[in-house]
Parts: sequence; structure tokens; C-alpha cells
Amino acid sequence: MELVGVQKTLSPVLKAKALDNRLPAPILGDVRAERVMRRLDPGYDKGIFAASQLGLAAVARAKVLDDWARDFLADHRDAVVLNLGCGLDARVYRIDPPATVEWYDLDYPAVIELRGQHLPPREHCTLIGSDVTDLTWLERVPRGRPALVIAEGLVPYLTEDDVRRLLTSVVGAFPTGRMLFDTVSVSAWRGSRWDPIGRRYNARFRCGFDDPAALADWHPRLHYLDEAPMNDSPVLMDRAPATTRRLYRLLNLIPSFRRSSRILRFRF
Ligand SMILES: C[S@@+](CC[C@H](N)C(=O)[O-])C[C@H]1O[C@@H](n2cnc3c(N)ncnc32)[C@H](O)[C@@H]1O
Repeated sequence: MELVGVQKTLSPVLKAKALDNRLPAPILGDVRAERVMRRLDPGYDKGIFAASQLGLAAVARAKVLDDWARDFLADHRDAVVLNLGCGLDARVYRIDPPATVEWYDLDYPAVIELRGQHLPPREHCTLIGSDVTDLTWLERVPRGRPALVIAEGLVPYLTEDDVRRLLTSVVGAFPTGRMLFDTVSVSAWRGSRWDPIGRRYNARFRCGFDDPAALADWHPRLHYLDEAPMNDSPVLMDRAPATTRRLYRLLNLIPSFRRSSRILRFRF
């Protein structure tokens, strides 16, 4: 199955993770990302800008989400993990949770098929090929256990109505848990029609929030915990090559850029 539209957005993130792995001190150090990227596109790092590290902010985001996930799983060894819009990300292998954790990787069927071709099967890890907004997939997941919900690079591609239905349905389905995801600002959402990656893949953002903590108002059991920096993340400024660091430092002088993406943690 050929990937179409928003499904293709998995590739710049995968490429950023692959390139990160070649840094002297990688942020994420994901060997699988590099291997899968090379198989998908052997010349992915050829060309003028191909090996530039401009995507490293997304890698810093993945690192935060991994660290938050590890924290939660250390205290909840009976958790159910829902990794929504998983793309070809290898989080379950990076985190390597104990067998007591049931992990679900969900994305569109075409992406899940591709995943099956490039990442090995794993016990206690189930692939679900579904549109995340068709909430019948939730019936396939065991209830009554703590849930860790991770949506990396997904929420901006959903409408606000769909995000609301997704969040409230997931909170309603589990007794307790954490929800980790990133959002973009209203101006980044509106400006996404000019974004070269979005244009190339015909995948625009469909929602944005200037006060994402207020999403907690959508459900009485949902509470905002905290957020982590992305475009000005310390690990990005520490590990990125000097040219990339300089560029981010310059762009971060523009407050609307610095705050254009937010990485958020909620509890319920
Ligand atoms: C930017 S990519 C991020 C992939 C992965 N989370 C990562 O960080 O490497 C966005 C992913 O969300 C998926 N996606 C977008 N809308 C979706 C939907 N309605 N249902 C399921 N998956 C969706 C896309 O197919 C794509 O794999």
C-alpha cells in the first residue's frame, strides 16, 4: 500500500532520528531509525541539505516522551500503552518495557503494513491499523488498567473536535493514567499552509492551541501536569551541530517560533 497525505509525514521524523544516530553524542541514539531509513531510501542523506540536522527538535521531543514514558512505566508495570500515530517510530524497542506491560502501536492501515515490513514483531506489542478518530479501536484494548497514552506529532493533524473526542474517550475508558502529546500554536496551525513539508505531503495542520493546558477542562478527571521545551530544549542546544544550534538560537529569538510547538503531560 502506498502512503498518502499525512501518512508521509512519518518520513521526515524518521529521517531526523536516523541522522541523530550519526551524531558523536546522539540525543535519542535510535539504531533502528537509521537502519529503517536506509532501507526505505538508501540515498536519504545525499544532496545539499539532506544530512542537515534541522529536524533535531523532533528528536528532542521523542527523547522527552521516552523519558516521561519510562518514568510512568517504572511505577505502573501493569500499564497499557497506547502509542497513537506511531508511524515508523521504534519507541517500544527503545523503552523495552517488561512483559507485564501491554503495548499498542496505532496508525493508518497502510502505515501499519509498512511497519510490519521494517520492524520485527514483539510479544505484548499489538499493531492496530485504524484511523485514530474511528474510536472503535478502543474496544480492542484491555480496560481497568493504568493507561499511558502517547501521541507524538499526531494532534496537529486532527481537528479540534476529533482531539476532544479522542481525549475524553480515552480518559473515560481507563481508571488512571498519563497522556503525553505535542501541540502547535494557533499561528503555526494557520501558517502551516505555507509549510514546505506540509505542502509537499498535502498534510496541513488542522488545529492549534495557544493555551494547551486548558485542554484539561475537557474532562473532569483530566489534569495538566507540565510541559517540556522543544525548539529551545537544552539537549538540542547541547548536542546539535554548531550550525543547527546557531539557526535554532536565531529562530528562537522570535517568541512565536519558540512557542510554536509544545510538549505536554497530563494525568487522569
Ligand atoms: C509526523 S508523523 C509522526 C510519526 C511518529 N509518531 C513519530 O514521531 O515518528 C504523524 C503520524 O500520524 C499518523 N496519523 C495522522 N493522522 C492520523 C489518523 N487520523 N489516524 C491514525 N494515524 C494518523 C500519520 O500516519 C503519521 O504516521
